[in-house]
Amino acid sequence: MKEYWNNRFISEGLIWGEQPSQTVYDAKRFFAKNNVKTVLVPGAGYGRNTKILSDTFQVDAIELSTEAVLLARQWDHRSCFIEGSIFEIPLRDKQYNAVYCYDLIHLFTKLDRMSLVRTCIELLDEEGIYYFTCFSNEDASYGNGVEIEENTFEYKKDKVSHFFNEDDLINHFKDTVIFETGTLQEDFEYTNNTIRTYKLRYIFGKKK
Ligand SMILES: C[S@@+](CC[C@H](N)C(=O)[O-])C[C@H]1O[C@@H](n2cnc3c(N)ncnc32)[C@H](O)[C@@H]1O
Repeated sequence: MKEYWNNRFISEGLIWGEQPSQTVYDAKRFFAKNNVKTVLVPGAGYGRNTKILSDTFQVDAIELSTEAVLLARQWDHRSCFIEGSIFEIPLRDKQYNAVYCYDLIHLFTKLDRMSLVRTCIELLDEEGIYYFTCFSNEDASYGNGVEIEENTFEYKKDKVSHFFNEDDLINHFKDTVIFETGTLQEDFEYTNNTIRTYKLRYIFGKKK
């Protein structure tokens, strides 16, 4: 996984462009309304979205790829980028007011997805809130590759994507208080000038 992402960041640089996701503005409003001061961003990439959060909140970002972290430290000077895996959290002693997690959870098979949610929720303080996004089962790439678990496809060697329907997403967060789920569409212009539209789902809520 690390090698795959390092290679992509080396060859494509700012893979998803300079524009942040529209969801980070929704998350920011939700966090501000709830008096959030500290935010954890797992799988932050090169900081496309952390930059929007770090002008208001204190942001720690955990990112697996060394190359992404190098880009991120130039792109967003305010967030603290920690190189490592969310599954081997170097931050056990810290708790956050909020987690924002954009398009990380669908990269794993079921046990790891459940573990990712559990870990993020454990890293929230008592009143902590969260905002996650993921691939939707309505995305055009649904079904590409070999189905290795229900709605999870290996589309390149050792590279999987899970596609969430609404019930499935809710089930991943069943031990939290869910405020809202929904769908959205985002367009990305890649470095080779191709544009790809992604159908995503989002969920936000709080720790129970
Ligand atoms: C689909 S990208 C999303 C990047 C970022 N959230 C954005 O939208 O710009 C997933 C990111 O998660 C990182 N990643 C993958 N596995 C991880 C892990 N176990 N812990 C932390 N980051 C991880 C990858 O290196 C990659 O940067």
